[in-house]
Amino acid sequence: MPPLPRSALELACRMPKAELHVHIEGTLEPDLAFTLARRNGLQLPFADEAALQAAKNFTDLQSFLDLYYACADVLRTEQDFADLMEAYLARAHADGVVHAEIFFDPQTHTARGVPMASVMAGLTAGQRAGARRFGVKTRLILCFLRHLSEDDAFATLRETEPYLANIDGFGLDSAERDHPPHKFVRVFERVRSLGKPVVAHAGEEGPAAYITEALDLLGAVRIDHGVRAVEDPALMARLARDRVALTVCPLSNVRLRVFPELAQHTLPALIAAGIPVTINSDDPAYFGGYMNDNIRALQAAFHWDREIWARLGHNSIEASWADPADKVRWHAEIDALL
Ligand code: HPA
Ligand code: ZN
Repeated sequence: MPPLPRSALELACRMPKAELHVHIEGTLEPDLAFTLARRNGLQLPFADEAALQAAKNFTDLQSFLDLYYACADVLRTEQDFADLMEAYLARAHADGVVHAEIFFDPQTHTARGVPMASVMAGLTAGQRAGARRFGVKTRLILCFLRHLSEDDAFATLRETEPYLANIDGFGLDSAERDHPPHKFVRVFERVRSLGKPVVAHAGEEGPAAYITEALDLLGAVRIDHGVRAVEDPALMARLARDRVALTVCPLSNVRLRVFPELAQHTLPALIAAGIPVTINSDDPAYFGGYMNDNIRALQAAFHWDREIWARLGHNSIEASWADPADKVRWHAEIDALL
């Protein structure tokens, strides 16, 4: 038996945990971006990796999305998507992530002429490689881009029909301001009629009312970000009572200036309210780190004890769509580290 963790931070880094909010396109590191650009005979609009890195000085969500979509242009072939997925799963595994539910944005790719078949075949090949090499279990969540139209989302949903066996849920991402959840009520009605669970980004830059809309109008079972829930005490009570998980992304929130610094983050208030929050990396190649980088930054800001960290680990397992037997085992493995 390895020795017990000597600190709360060591417990948090070592414990088995689920990552429930990570965009595969947001895991594209500069070195892989340049490798794929060369492989595909493309020119990135940056001289080198350092220039790309220097462009990651964001002022808000839109300033990030502009760069994120520009870099995604190097993703062209099935192999590109497989390499991207496998690289992420290697890093997740190194941080104690045993289960990852991974977003992808097919509209970003199909709009550039990349076939849905290439995206799906590449991502699923990467998932299989990650399971084989690292033992990481995965789920795939298709996100609709909320700055595009309802018609565009419906067309994308129709295109996914041959691949539904490999799509475990559906979400909503991209520019939140002025694109409320209610814009996609009919799309998510259809998603639910297919028997697939719904999640949605809400309450990141948008108001707490968007969280309520995502729950009531889209039938979301988890909320991605949700950090502005603190603006509505009745909503806070509801999230706690109904055990609606929030997939919080601390480094993302600071880099996109949702909060000026981690010390001002609403996570302590969300935890104190009894809401099942989870810690996630969102777009780790853009926001300064993966799962354990987020954990180390939180610990530097808040100095949480083992009980809080274990609770966050348990929350991530509970809120995941993992197999029940896996959940039982991971819950026990967390407790065995206490
Ligand atoms: N918010 C909205 N859309 C996104 C994000 C995010 O944090 N990351 C990738 N697409
Ligand atoms: Zn996100």
